[in-house]
Amino acid sequence: MSAQELISTTKAMVAEGKGLLAMDESTPTCNKRFEKMGITQTEETRRSYRELIVTTPGLGEFISGVILYDETIRQSSTDGTPFVKVITGAGIIPGIKVDTSAKDMAGHPGERITEGLDGLGARLAEYSQMGARFAKWRAVIAIADGIPSRGCIEANAHSLARYAALCQEASLVPIVEPEVLMDGEHSLERCFEVTAEVLRTVFSQLCTQRVALEGMILKPNMVLPGLTCPKQETVDKVADATVRCLLRAVPAAVPGIAFLSGGQSGELASARLNAMNVRFKSQRPWALAFSFARAIQQPALEIWQGDEANVPAAQQALYHRARCNRAARRGEYNAAMERI
Ligand code: 13P
Repeated sequence: MSAQELISTTKAMVAEGKGLLAMDESTPTCNKRFEKMGITQTEETRRSYRELIVTTPGLGEFISGVILYDETIRQSSTDGTPFVKVITGAGIIPGIKVDTSAKDMAGHPGERITEGLDGLGARLAEYSQMGARFAKWRAVIAIADGIPSRGCIEANAHSLARYAALCQEASLVPIVEPEVLMDGEHSLERCFEVTAEVLRTVFSQLCTQRVALEGMILKPNMVLPGLTCPKQETVDKVADATVRCLLRAVPAAVPGIAFLSGGQSGELASARLNAMNVRFKSQRPWALAFSFARAIQQPALEIWQGDEANVPAAQQALYHRARCNRAARRGEYNAAMERI
């Protein structure tokens, strides 16, 4: 793929009215979500669930790309068609999570560093050969007393930048995901400060590692008060804080920003994304899109419950959330859409 192709894939990932669907839960995370719903945790149930997602009729109207996990990219639908083929057949771009998860960071109690750089070049070549056109790497930054530390922010930013450079060399578009977690009592203002510092460090490292900003997607958290902060904020206040923070830290050369949902409900994630697109319609240089996992999948998972008979209703719920998020991208979402 030439640099031009890398850029056109990036643009297609944040094409008008579309966003990404993250279905790249690692096996332990997927099992944890299944366990909560009383669903058996086997390779076959994980495969069936992912088949439900990728065969949802009409998904390609709203979803530009799906992020897969190593187990999933190797799986096929019941009729034997490889998932990658099902996905591309639906007009959707396949992508792959390539980090090997966040581990406790030496010398930094309460903080984590994402691993996966060893042998990454060879893994990227294999995924590209399997049909992946983009990749994802997630770093996690926790807020609490005395953290995050500079050590944790710098180490994670450096790894994200090394990963992104390797992706571009392998002709895969890197999704760069530095997630400031929602857990904690911190205020919206503290989340703003930390997110701005993390993003500035990430972009400094991306430049040092010679990553072409035109050929990447940023996947950040929204700027929110901590989950247990007594002062929760309105949708508009969250939208304003988030976009103001991004305007200060994210270069205009980046084509698109696709938010993670981080544990927000589907409705709130859509409402907040919508408010950003309404309030900053003509004041932002990048597309503001979504790359949600839970905020798109959760209702479908709850309906499915591991039962084949529930597949059509679960697919309808998935389609509905994807449609709501297209509206949010366009600034056309409202609560009435949830009652249809
Ligand atoms: P959530 O939208 O559930 O936060 O997941 C997005 C994701 O890809 C996490 O890495």
